[in-house]
Amino acid sequence: MTIMMKFKNHITALVAGSVFIFCPAGAQVAFGPVTGDAENGKQAYYDYGCYGCHGFNGIGRHNLANDVSGIMSNEALYLTFLRARADQNPLFPTQSMPNYAKESLSDEDALDIYAYIRSFKDDPPEVEDIPALKAILDAAKE
Ligand code: HEC
Repeated sequence: MTIMMKFKNHITALVAGSVFIFCPAGAQVAFGPVTGDAENGKQAYYDYGCYGCHGFNGIGRHNLANDVSGIMSNEALYLTFLRARADQNPLFPTQSMPNYAKESLSDEDALDIYAYIRSFKDDPPEVEDIPALKAILDAAKE
């Protein structure tokens, strides 16, 4: 790969990345419609190994049940994220999500998975409602 090609790949990644980075944390993300089937998506989420890194409820190694990055805000952005990774990675060594090309994961299955992920809730209980955790935190303050 020539230096220019590498440079171009990194610029592409930076432009794609800035879409997510400039979405300020805490800002309301407007969510687009869901066209897939969440029931099929549940099975596909396991079949394609998403749960291995993202956990059974999306709160695993990288939290999917959130609206912070904006990637999950609409189907087009999500599909672009799944497909474009081959060109972008590894930009950083920690970015170890596999590339899911169309040949290995169809749009239909990908959108069913999208529908399933959109059904995840990111609503952990308050610390006050978990006595053991509250006791640990209180003890740490002393
Ligand atoms: C080997 C681990 C691994 C597997 C398997 C995996 N992911 Fe990921 N995923 C990651 C990591 C790490 C990130 C965050 C950083 C990055 O961009 O690589 C991520 C990020 C994401 C994001 C962006 C989330 C956000 O809002 O910022 C989505 C969406 C996503 N993954 C969907 C999927 C889907 C769908 C599958 C299954 C088809 C899947 N992932 C399988 C590791 C994985």
